[in-house]
Amino acid sequence: MSTWANLGLQDSASPLMEQLIFFHDHALLILVMITVLVGYLMFMLFFNNYVNRFLLHGQLIEMIWTILPAIILLFIALPSLRLLYLLDEINEPSVTLKSIGHQWYWSYEYSDFNNIEFDSYMIPTNELATDGFRLLDVDNRVVLPMNSQIRILVTATDVIHSWTIPALGVKVDGTPGRLNQTNFFINRPGLFYGQCSEICGANHSFMPIVIGSVPVNYFIKWISNNNS
Ligand code: CUA
Repeated sequence: MSTWANLGLQDSASPLMEQLIFFHDHALLILVMITVLVGYLMFMLFFNNYVNRFLLHGQLIEMIWTILPAIILLFIALPSLRLLYLLDEINEPSVTLKSIGHQWYWSYEYSDFNNIEFDSYMIPTNELATDGFRLLDVDNRVVLPMNSQIRILVTATDVIHSWTIPALGVKVDGTPGRLNQTNFFINRPGLFYGQCSEICGANHSFMPIVIGSVPVNYFIKWISNNNS
């Protein structure tokens, strides 16, 4: 999760988020190079007296400063498209979780396992444990196995919500009357926090998501305890 003074991206917990971070850094590097070059050129314009009273056209330089930026943009567009298609790939998931957005809480269904279902509400500040995270902890966490392909189905019952977990690189809108699908792979154990990210009403800020990532045998134990 994000902690104090963390203004950048969170550490990744999935291969796709790792790729997203690489792409972000790559795009930022190109952005910095362009900004420095253009900034330098604009600054140096103040300090010269070059005037050409007979200048009417410059075919060559215009060719260069049209084609060169187009080539630079390709270096962003192609990796961006690669990531876009990679994010859309469903790799034979072993678990499917359905998450449904409501005003203002999430509910979950494990349809693969005798249809376990539960609601997940934020814990109010006055009921928070001393080690709890304010506005971020929930009463019923989502438990998922690590090192497994997981499919998420997202929908909503009232207005548009968005199921968003930064560390996993997941952000899917839950829309009434639709079923959206995404897929991820958690590569370490731990708790991963997220929040709704569609402005869905008065308590939009108060419908967080907590994922408990556990080893597969713990997950099976959790599933069988909830089936009894
Ligand atoms: Cu649900 Cu914002």
